[in-house]
Amino acid sequence: MLVVGGGVWRAADQGVFSTGEGPAYEPWDDWRTPTSGPLNLVRAAILAANPHNSQPWLFHVTPTQIDLFSDLRRNLGTVDPFLIEMHIGLGCALENLVLAAAANGYTTRVSLSPDASDETLVARIGLTPGSVPVSTLYHMIPLRHTNRYPYDTGHPVSLVTLDALSALGDDPDVRVFWFASALERTPVGNMLVEAAHAFVADKAQDGVDTGTWWRATWQDIQQHRDGITLDAAGLPDLTRVLGKMLPSVSVEQQDSSFLQNTAEQAKTAGAFGLLAIRNRQDRTQQVRAGQFWEHMHLWATKEGLAMQPLNQATERASREIVLGMSPHFGDALRLLVQDAAWQAILTFRVGYSTHEGLRSPRRAVNDVVKP
Ligand SMILES: Cc1cc2nc3c(=O)[nH]c(=O)nc-3n(C[C@H](O)[C@H](O)[C@H](O)COP(=O)(O)O)c2cc1C
Repeated sequence: MLVVGGGVWRAADQGVFSTGEGPAYEPWDDWRTPTSGPLNLVRAAILAANPHNSQPWLFHVTPTQIDLFSDLRRNLGTVDPFLIEMHIGLGCALENLVLAAAANGYTTRVSLSPDASDETLVARIGLTPGSVPVSTLYHMIPLRHTNRYPYDTGHPVSLVTLDALSALGDDPDVRVFWFASALERTPVGNMLVEAAHAFVADKAQDGVDTGTWWRATWQDIQQHRDGITLDAAGLPDLTRVLGKMLPSVSVEQQDSSFLQNTAEQAKTAGAFGLLAIRNRQDRTQQVRAGQFWEHMHLWATKEGLAMQPLNQATERASREIVLGMSPHFGDALRLLVQDAAWQAILTFRVGYSTHEGLRSPRRAVNDVVKP
């Protein structure tokens, strides 16, 4: 009884019975407060997708304007040396913010990188009271979660659905490439699995700069309210519960679970997608690609379709540039795109999942608002 009692105590202590609950998850429930005002737009923005759940944003809010800043302290180091993923995540936040503006009775005027002397000022959103139709995607904001579970291989994603996803974008500098047939999916899946192995073998990318964002315990999650968690990893329920109850998991065990998971994710993808922009270095194109990603993901949520970025190949391509290595993954991505006018910045999978995606933690609005 003592053993069972101890197990139950540890389970409770590690949040086994309270997945997706506690202060770290409250922003998902209280994002639509009865009070009005521009802060509600920030409440929606912070629920956006973002790399490693680093939440690299700060907001300056006035009654007529919101400035969206990058928080450079929350960078991913060697995982994202050129801050490309950071700016995609900021674009995701901007997309939610603009959708929420209409629902809160504002029309918006968005300027990207409005101040050449301050590269951290990513977007300025002017707010004017006005009546704008509210998009159905607004209601998807708290339901969108990155889904890392296996997808149902018996339920393919139709080309009509992929075309509908492509059609959501109207930016001439951002586009998506699809790899839907088994013949097209295989090389992409193989590349992503190979990139995951290269990522794990790189102790700076895997051990240090991913380890920093790993929230191993319930207490860590509730304290930091950011980062990557076991709950959101897409593992079978039993593995997830046991993982939370075990005193600690070694780095080797974590790596092997990540590699196994990636192989399963690649194998069960309904289709792979590749998001590309004209110039990989261009900050506003990165932000606009983020807006498109969030928009697609919200639409997919409405359609019961799961999505997951699997971005290790572009992370390795950046790493190759930094280390002066031969561009193995850089070339592999170029080969997939087959068009020198476009440069890959995000690879992902889409499909009908076997499970609902689970929530990841979020910091409180007060922690991301600049005085
Ligand atoms: C630019 C970018 C890159 C990402 N790369 C990966 C990735 O390689 N693997 C993965 O599982 N999730 C990836 N994600 C998903 C984030 O980890 C996820 O958005 C974050 O943890 C917040 O969780 P949520 O999307 O469920 O709210 C990425 C997201 C963004 C915006």
